[in-house]
Amino acid sequence: MIVGVIGSGSIGPDLAYGFVTALAAEPGSRVYLVDVKQDALDAGVARIKGYVSKALARGKLHPKVAQAVEAALVPTLKMSDLHDCDYVLEAATEHLPIKRSILKELEGIVRPDCLIGFATSGIPRAQIANEAKVPDRCFVNHPFFPAWRTLPIEIVLSNDAALGRRMIQTMRKLGKVPIVTADVECFAADDVFCNYIAEAARIVEEGIATPAQVDKAVNDAVGGGGPFNVMDLTRGNKLVVHCQELMQHAPNGTPWFAPPAILTTQGNAPWHDPKKPADPSCSEAVRKQIVDRILAVLLGRAFAVMDDKTCEPSDLNWLLRMSLGFDKGTLELAETLGMPKVHELCAAFASRHPGFPIPPSVAAKRAPNLQRDIRVERDGDLAVVRVFRPEVRNALCARTLQELHDAVRALGADGAVRGIVLTSTDGAFAGADINELAALKTPEECEAVCLRGHALLEAITTCPKPVVMAGDGPVLGGGAETAMTCHARVVGKSFMLGQPEVDLGIIPGYGGSQRLPRLIGLENALPLLRAGKTLDATAACKLGWAHGEPSADPVAAAKALIRSHLEGKVKLAPVDPKPMTVPAKLPAQDIAHRSLATDAILVDVIRRGLALPLGEGLKIEAQGFARCRRTVDMDIGMKNFMQNGPRVPAVFLHE
Ligand SMILES: NC(=O)c1ccc[n+]([C@@H]2O[C@H](COP(=O)([O-])OP(=O)(O)OC[C@H]3O[C@@H](n4cnc5c(N)ncnc54)[C@H](O)[C@@H]3O)[C@@H](O)[C@H]2O)c1
Repeated sequence: MIVGVIGSGSIGPDLAYGFVTALAAEPGSRVYLVDVKQDALDAGVARIKGYVSKALARGKLHPKVAQAVEAALVPTLKMSDLHDCDYVLEAATEHLPIKRSILKELEGIVRPDCLIGFATSGIPRAQIANEAKVPDRCFVNHPFFPAWRTLPIEIVLSNDAALGRRMIQTMRKLGKVPIVTADVECFAADDVFCNYIAEAARIVEEGIATPAQVDKAVNDAVGGGGPFNVMDLTRGNKLVVHCQELMQHAPNGTPWFAPPAILTTQGNAPWHDPKKPADPSCSEAVRKQIVDRILAVLLGRAFAVMDDKTCEPSDLNWLLRMSLGFDKGTLELAETLGMPKVHELCAAFASRHPGFPIPPSVAAKRAPNLQRDIRVERDGDLAVVRVFRPEVRNALCARTLQELHDAVRALGADGAVRGIVLTSTDGAFAGADINELAALKTPEECEAVCLRGHALLEAITTCPKPVVMAGDGPVLGGGAETAMTCHARVVGKSFMLGQPEVDLGIIPGYGGSQRLPRLIGLENALPLLRAGKTLDATAACKLGWAHGEPSADPVAAAKALIRSHLEGKVKLAPVDPKPMTVPAKLPAQDIAHRSLATDAILVDVIRRGLALPLGEGLKIEAQGFARCRRTVDMDIGMKNFMQNGPRVPAVFLHE
């Protein structure tokens, strides 16, 4: 893929670095970085080289990948070099006439099928593209700081659905998670973000608190580092002024949106002096005033964006958490506070700040319809349920399981739905949420978590409609166990199956030790369960874990399989719950460095559990998982994983 990034200022080089690393494995790929100024280009290339050296030093980039990155990056002063690009992202100065003139020049250079994006922070797509020869290939692609690694990117689509689909695929290929927004001033995230910064600046301007006090109070309340720290990192004061002016003069703007003068006076000078950090302490009354004002603006604008249908509530919630670095998405925060409190904060703020709009759902104290971790789509009489936690490769936490359960139950009871595909944002299911597992303190807690998980996943197994899992990429641990509660599985070419629990000093807890042998046979299951071995897509199909052959489009294949079932051509069913015959002696298994203590529990669970009906086996597994809590090796395995990641083997004590 050949990509161009125009503008080598604050964000262009970061975007180019992100794209070039995402494309590093693709031979022949190239990323051009264009600027009109040689010094801007030189500074951009130096910054990218700095990122590469840092990543190499930290072992995050393989030397070969680093070489590929440097070879694929082409800095240039000539826009004409972009003639063979598949996609060009304009990330030049935030000024409408500049963006329009770049677009005009670009249209004379690039191929007719080249897609064009604008990284604008707030100018609507229609305003930039309205004079374009082919406006439908032009999109807003609004990235977030630091743009080389922040996943979300806002997309404003055009009127051409097929080009829109290509745009979204292009973003995914470049390592981004596209979030679609309406074409309004500042889209979704910058409306909330810039108003949040503007309010923080007003608090300082009015002499209520210092930037240090605001940052501490806000960070303690919602995370994210504090508004002035963020401004110092992004040097974004002027961009916020520009965005506030756009919102002030937008069709539903009011004078309240006007940027506070202090942002202009400050220019892009930093708010903090790192050599002389100011005292962030303040009285409780001041702290409360800061937090109440900031919360009112964050919540008020998030609900306004939702009520205006600028962005879907679940997407908006994720977008705000990921792009602004808060502890929780803003709508989830509203859920925690409760709508009466949200209303109280917004109403108090509006009474003192004329022109601050109270969104209809806040006025009505109506909670958002929020599915935090899953998305449900319809395709005729089929539903697709996607786990949406791309930042943790769709690991399943307690809330995800609850949402999955609720969605499957609702779809199972919906007469318009005849089958369900269960998948994730990208097909990967990284497993259970390790932070939650590591927080389990007692064997009783461990057993309870497993039993609750079994009960929630039972909704899939007992669903009256066929549920087929579509997986691609790594499907591990709890993700694989969830897949095995379905009535069938189909996999993509980059699928990889693993039950790596033993690497963490634990055993499966959501049925893996009981369903995997029932699906692929005991002999085939033991190397996965006891020694952390993996299966690729072809092997998973051959052994019967997955149906048919690896597919280029597993979601489409899952839909086709459901249709075949509905037409009576195949019969899909949950894993057979009957007891299995277990040999007196299990085949020998080299478990390498893994814990003998964990292995003993696992072997016992497998032997006793498989000899019983599945329901009984699951209880035995839950008790076995609880026994792991009594071993030292569970602490060692968990700690090693959290500190060193999955590639460094734990040094177990076998106790
Ligand atoms: N800085 C951020 O954190 C951020 C975040 C999201 C989006 N954006 C958006 O990205 C765009 C760039 O922002 P920035 O902060 O990097 O701006 P910037 O002012 O730091 O850099 C702009 C660069 O564009 C170059 N340029 C100007 N005209 C050009 C032309 N005709 N051809 C090629 N290069 C040209 C300038 O020389 C400069 O190097 C803006 O639209 C901005 O709203 C920025």
